[in-house]
Amino acid sequence: MTLRSLHPRATGAVAQSEGDTNLTARRAAWQARSIDDATRAALVEDERYFLRQSVSTPCLNVIARAQGLYIEDMAGRRFMDFHGNNVHHIGYGHPRLTRAIAEQMQALPFAPRRYAAEPVTQLARKLSGISPLGQCKVLLTTGGSDAIEVAVKIARAATGRFKTLAFWDAFHGAGVGAAALSGEALFRSGPAAPLIPGAIHVAPYAGIRCPYGTSDLVASGEACARMIEYVLEHEADVAALIAEPIRAVPSVPPPGFWARVRAACDRHGTLLVFDEIPVGLGKTGAMFACQHDGVAPDILVLGKGLGGGILPIAAVLARPELDVGADWAFGHYTHEKNPVTARAALTTIEIIEDEGLVENASRVGAVALARLNELKRIPVIGDVRGRGLLLGIELVRDVEGMEPDNDLAEATLYAALDRGLSFKTTMGNVLTLTPPLTITEAQMLQGIDILAAAIDDARRAIHLDR
Ligand SMILES: Cc1ncc(COP(=O)(O)O)c(C=O)c1O
Repeated sequence: MTLRSLHPRATGAVAQSEGDTNLTARRAAWQARSIDDATRAALVEDERYFLRQSVSTPCLNVIARAQGLYIEDMAGRRFMDFHGNNVHHIGYGHPRLTRAIAEQMQALPFAPRRYAAEPVTQLARKLSGISPLGQCKVLLTTGGSDAIEVAVKIARAATGRFKTLAFWDAFHGAGVGAAALSGEALFRSGPAAPLIPGAIHVAPYAGIRCPYGTSDLVASGEACARMIEYVLEHEADVAALIAEPIRAVPSVPPPGFWARVRAACDRHGTLLVFDEIPVGLGKTGAMFACQHDGVAPDILVLGKGLGGGILPIAAVLARPELDVGADWAFGHYTHEKNPVTARAALTTIEIIEDEGLVENASRVGAVALARLNELKRIPVIGDVRGRGLLLGIELVRDVEGMEPDNDLAEATLYAALDRGLSFKTTMGNVLTLTPPLTITEAQMLQGIDILAAAIDDARRAIHLDR
């Protein structure tokens, strides 16, 4: 029985932000040619016990090892991991981090409710020290989705309002509250609904296929900022605007965009919350993505890479004046003051600082962007964009019309796996590269060479004469 035949109900009905959903024919074909019997058996066993869900189970392959930049499958094949769910900022299994975690587990494995613990306080002090908000106060959660919901509760308490404003097509987490802010059908419609009330959305800025009908990024940013101003004025009681300071597509904001939005928030008493869960801690070549725009939010949310690619931890950083919830329990999570996850986060930040990883991300990212721009001569590449080590290559049917080529993007993804490179696609047609901050220039260029070869393979495989 093929893996595919276990899933006769391939839907395609819901708009997918990821081209390589787990039920496509291309995935089945890749598995048929690339997965050995032992791996196939392990995948079937995994699926026997896990609830199926889109973009997750059934899985693509089985991972046996993860080290530095690389993941390795059960059959011993190594892939450069240019995705890593954005957790692997310091590379997988960093020895300084594994040592620190092991020592912390021995010294103090847990802190039950009512107790402070030294590494947890140290982490909060560290976060406050590096925060773009200046000195701040902190709540910790286990995951990003929870942290986003804590941020919303703080904003509600501080403003006495409940409405939120966010971008269509952003993702802020899978919890019911976070999904309400998110703007993708996959996470907010069907069985996820009904969601929490008062979650308003506007279309985001976009340099290509602008939902406001403009034809360049600056004009799109203006239209989007104007719409945000319009909504804040007409609703008049929005508690918080929640957004990623750089869109995950990726799409870099036009200059002045966030300053204008910040000013609108201030005029209308709306708090600005930046979700830096995937992009904070250096990914974009600055410690925090919002620093590129010189705009500080009222609340900043971190996650993913904060746990060093080993442990789950997320953090909400709030201006001290927002410490208004003393009578309530906004973030009362079991692992709120877990000394082991806190040690992991603290050590991860120290590694990022001590190894100059933010500077490395900026430098290698610039080299990568330049090389990717050279690839624009390939006629299927419609655009190249990004900041630091958050990079995107848009594959299109024709460069004039910019019609997305999702099929080619998915074929490229599997061709790249054949050549030892793993990445993900965003919005169906954008090859999205988010390698760890530890990547060397040589590794980055090697990855881009593989990518270029994979695009060629994919064009040949689907008989494109473009
Ligand atoms: C921008 C953004 N916000 C929030 C989340 C949710 O984080 P978590 O999966 O840790 O709940 C994600 C996860 O992909 C994300 O990319």
